[in-house]
Amino acid sequence: MLKIGVLVSGGGTNLQAIIDKIVDGTIPNTKIVSVVSNKENAYALERSKKYNIDGKCIKPSDYSSRVEFSEALKNHFISLNVDLIVLAGYLVVLSKEFVSAFPNKIMNIHPSLIPSFCGDGYYGLKVHQAVINRGAKLTGATVHFVDEGTDTGPIILQKAVDVKDSDTPEILQQRVMKEAEWIIYPEAIKLFAENRIEINDNKVIIK
Ligand code: GAR
Repeated sequence: MLKIGVLVSGGGTNLQAIIDKIVDGTIPNTKIVSVVSNKENAYALERSKKYNIDGKCIKPSDYSSRVEFSEALKNHFISLNVDLIVLAGYLVVLSKEFVSAFPNKIMNIHPSLIPSFCGDGYYGLKVHQAVINRGAKLTGATVHFVDEGTDTGPIILQKAVDVKDSDTPEILQQRVMKEAEWIIYPEAIKLFAENRIEINDNKVIIK
């Protein structure tokens, strides 16, 4: 049984897409054992409650330093013996210590085709605004492993989405979620659960 911990900050639509594919059996032999938010009122926590998944808030301001926060988060997942940590719209930057405790065991979804429109400062609607400002005709989403950089880890899956002249950041965000994120995130987790992901020279090979 693959044990997953999920980190969230907001609405949790990616969390929902993953739950749906676990519940319907598409992602085999997998259980979400914990959902952790840095915000008490994140709707993602409501979603986890509906499925009796343990949900809690662990936030930086409850600790005297970032080091202590990071240590608490790390110990939480270690105590649960998680096999994979999934970032689903998590807007806190993880420390190097946290990331190095789970090598190639943390996945993230980014709402663009990496290496475009990614890195420091690119998150949520800002990404889609930047795509529109640049006049890009294609965007999409990327699932990747998390390493110590921002959006620099091995790419697992990507899916392209059209940008339309009439798009606002909000409209484009919805299209990228519906046509890419909610599809490729569960797919990437399924590949992980089936032990089909190999990493060679910082590149993912799907077996
Ligand atoms: C998603 O679009 C995700 O790609 C993005 O935040 C949104 C969260 O939505 N993540 C980032 O920008 C990370 N850099 P959700 O809470 O409904 O899943």
